[in-house]
Amino acid sequence: MNQKDKQAMSGGIARIGEYSDELHAENLDDIQVGEYGYKYRTIEGVVLPPYVTPDRYAMSRSIAARPNDVCYGSFPKSGSTWLSNVLYLILNNGEVPEDKTLRSCLHWMESSWPYPRSREEVDTLPSPRIFKSHMPYHMALAGGPEQSPCKYIYIARNPKDVCVSYFHFESNKAWSGGYSGPWEHWLKIFMEGRVQRGDWFDHVLSWWKHKDAENMLFLKYEDMKRDFDAQLLAIAAYLGYALSEEVIDRIKLATSFSKMKTEQFSNHKEIAQLEGFFRKGEIGSWKDQFTVAQSEAFDRFYRERMAGTGLDFEFE
Ligand code: A3P
Repeated sequence: MNQKDKQAMSGGIARIGEYSDELHAENLDDIQVGEYGYKYRTIEGVVLPPYVTPDRYAMSRSIAARPNDVCYGSFPKSGSTWLSNVLYLILNNGEVPEDKTLRSCLHWMESSWPYPRSREEVDTLPSPRIFKSHMPYHMALAGGPEQSPCKYIYIARNPKDVCVSYFHFESNKAWSGGYSGPWEHWLKIFMEGRVQRGDWFDHVLSWWKHKDAENMLFLKYEDMKRDFDAQLLAIAAYLGYALSEEVIDRIKLATSFSKMKTEQFSNHKEIAQLEGFFRKGEIGSWKDQFTVAQSEAFDRFYRERMAGTGLDFEFE
C-alpha cells in the first residue's frame, strides 16, 4: 500500500486513497481515453481498468497456487463481493473479525489498487488464501482450472442488472477517467464489449464452457438471491467444509445486503470512491434504467449471443 494512501481510521483500519493514474497505472503511455473521458488499458485485446497493469497481470498468471487456495472471479458487478464474504466466513468459522476489512483479506493480484500484494507477500501467507479476479477464462489467475490445482468459483449475473450496476459504478470515478457519458452511451459500449473487462458475453461464456471441471464451481447471483441456503451449502461442500447450524446462521446474517452495507468489515468505507458500492442488491433493478425499446433490443441481442450455450438468466 502506498504511504500516500494511508490515513488513520477509527478502529485501526487504514483508509485507502482513491485510484490515481500517477500512483497506480505504472505506464501512462498505454492508457487510452475513449468517449466521455472513459479511460482504459488493453491487454491481449481485452479492455481493462488502468490499475490492471501488464506487470501485475503477468504476476497473476504465474503465482504458485496451492490446492486449498480459493480463487473467485466474475465480470464486475455480478455479486463477487457478496460471494467473497461468504467464502471468507466459510473458511473462518463464520466469525467476522473486528480489526480487518474484507477487501484487506483478499488478494487481487492483477490489480495495483486498492490492496496491491507482492508475489513474496502471498507466497508467505498461510493457507487457505482467497484470491479475487475479474479476468476472462483465458487470462485466469494462475493459468486457470486446467493448469492450477486451486479451487475456482465464478459468479455470473443477468447482464441487464450488471450493465446498470456497472454504469453507476463507473460514472465519475478516478479509475474510469471520470467517465461522464449518459446511460445511452454506456449501454452502447457495454453491448459492444468496450467497457473495462471487455465483452460480458465472452467473459461469462468463457468460464461457463469449463463449468464441469473438477476444480470449478459456476454460480449465479439470482440463485444466491432466491435460495441462499442451498447455494451456501453447495459452496461449502465444494470447498470441503461441513457447516454447523450455528455457523450457517452467522454467515447468513453477516452476508445479508443490509449487514454488508453497514458493517465495518464489509462496507468498503475504508476505500475512497466506493461509498455507493452497496446500491440496491436486487434482481431486476434494470427496469428503472432501460427504456422499453432498449430492453427489447437488448433481449434480441442476448438471445443471439446466448443461443445454444445452455446458459440462461433470470431477469426479474
Ligand atoms: P447493485 O449495484 O445492483 O446494487 P460486485 O461485488 O461483483 O462488484 O457486485 C456488486 C453488486 O452486488 C451490486 O449490485 C451490489 O449492491 C450487490 N451486492 C453486494 N452485496 C450484496 C449482498 N449481500 N446481497 C445482494 N447483493 C449484493
